Amino acid sequence: MSEQFEFPRDFLWGAATAAYQIEGSPLADGAGPSNWHRFSHTPGNTTNGDTGDVACDHYNRYRSDIALMREIGLKAYRLSISWSRIFPEGRGRVNPRGVDFYSRLIDTLLESGITPNVTLYHWDLPAALDDRGGWLNPDIASWFGDYATTMFSSLGDRVPMWSTINEPFVVMDGGYMHGNLAPGHRNMYEAPIVTHNLLRAHATAVQAFRARNAPDTRIGLVVNLDRKYPASDSPDDAAAARRFHGYGNEHYLDPVFFGRYPDALREIFGDAWIERPADEMQLIREPIDFLGINYYTRMVVKRDFSRLPFKMSPVVQADAQHTEMGWEVFPAGLTEVLTWVKERYGDIPLYVTENGSAFADPPTAINARVEDPLRVAYLEAHLKAIRDAITKGVNLRGYFAWSLLDNYEWSYGYTRRFGIVHVDYQTQERTIKDSGRFYSRIIQSNGTSLG
Ligand code: BGC
Repeated sequence: MSEQFEFPRDFLWGAATAAYQIEGSPLADGAGPSNWHRFSHTPGNTTNGDTGDVACDHYNRYRSDIALMREIGLKAYRLSISWSRIFPEGRGRVNPRGVDFYSRLIDTLLESGITPNVTLYHWDLPAALDDRGGWLNPDIASWFGDYATTMFSSLGDRVPMWSTINEPFVVMDGGYMHGNLAPGHRNMYEAPIVTHNLLRAHATAVQAFRARNAPDTRIGLVVNLDRKYPASDSPDDAAAARRFHGYGNEHYLDPVFFGRYPDALREIFGDAWIERPADEMQLIREPIDFLGINYYTRMVVKRDFSRLPFKMSPVVQADAQHTEMGWEVFPAGLTEVLTWVKERYGDIPLYVTENGSAFADPPTAINARVEDPLRVAYLEAHLKAIRDAITKGVNLRGYFAWSLLDNYEWSYGYTRRFGIVHVDYQTQERTIKDSGRFYSRIIQSNGTSLG
């Protein structure tokens, strides 16, 4: 690879966060509680009982955080909106002070020359809607459509890039299949219902967006993808990998791009699977303008009949490097995921909307410096992987590091640090890590300094 490779001229170099993970003040200014507020306050759900009550206090510090983004040189910032700040009761009455927070945030980004990329749903559901069944209730498509419409009309004149839902797979798998995320259900029979409602809600928001007919703005969906490799050459392991690929990767993309669910889901869910009418599948197929891809790792799997319903188990690659999440570092998988999406779903504009690594950092910066060589190496390797994808013809328009700040890592609480900026949770002091400085140089050179 030539050292002179330059990324496309308007490549969007960014960083990402999510509302509940950084904002704190979850009930401020008339906001209602979210399912995450409730889940994290329920004993036993999170490490050390950590909650998002304070998090990075971004709700009060957003101006200085945006100054940090400028210092790094970010061109774009991906954030999410907390639905329960806007609709404290989930539906009906809009809370103007909630809207005002995001309005000020967007204005400050624009004044700083940073493009906002806004996700409507990054896992925090108004608790009032959870009480009505949350993602199990088919009415959620219209609740979400109303919320989306409110946000498009309040911020749509200033936000050029919207995403409906962050990682519907994880909402279903973590929230309803395995229960490690809010609302903490463990029920295989709920999963197909949740999936379908997530997709109907997504499409309803896309339709609401199209109805506004706003020029120069785009809407997409964000999915997490990781390749599944068979542990051996045996046909059984290959079948296990194929099945799990259907569950993890095609689950949400086949419906959105082809209007059908992959057969692997029928195989996995058996009598829990529900066939859907053609008109609903047609709705879900509502075209999107771009696809956001979150990438962290890969999986190697083998057949395992003792593990139902998937009939497979992961095989840890003992010799490989792993992050603090226990996730294997596998940059080539990012190139593969991007080229696979292009081959299977066509030449839609793509963004890497999240990519990053949790490695241990000290709780306090030492002499205003945080040396994080492992995170620098991860970032460098994955930026090279996206460069490879671009040279292979993938229509990749931007990259968002996860995450701008160390933050609330859901049920792991504050025990996992993903930030390119360090947060001292005692003092709320921020320190740009070596990885943030490295990223800054890459952005400044538009990728030529990647080497
Ligand atoms: C989520 C983030 C999360 C990250 C690391 C992604 O699945 O979108 O909210 O912090 O992974 O676990």
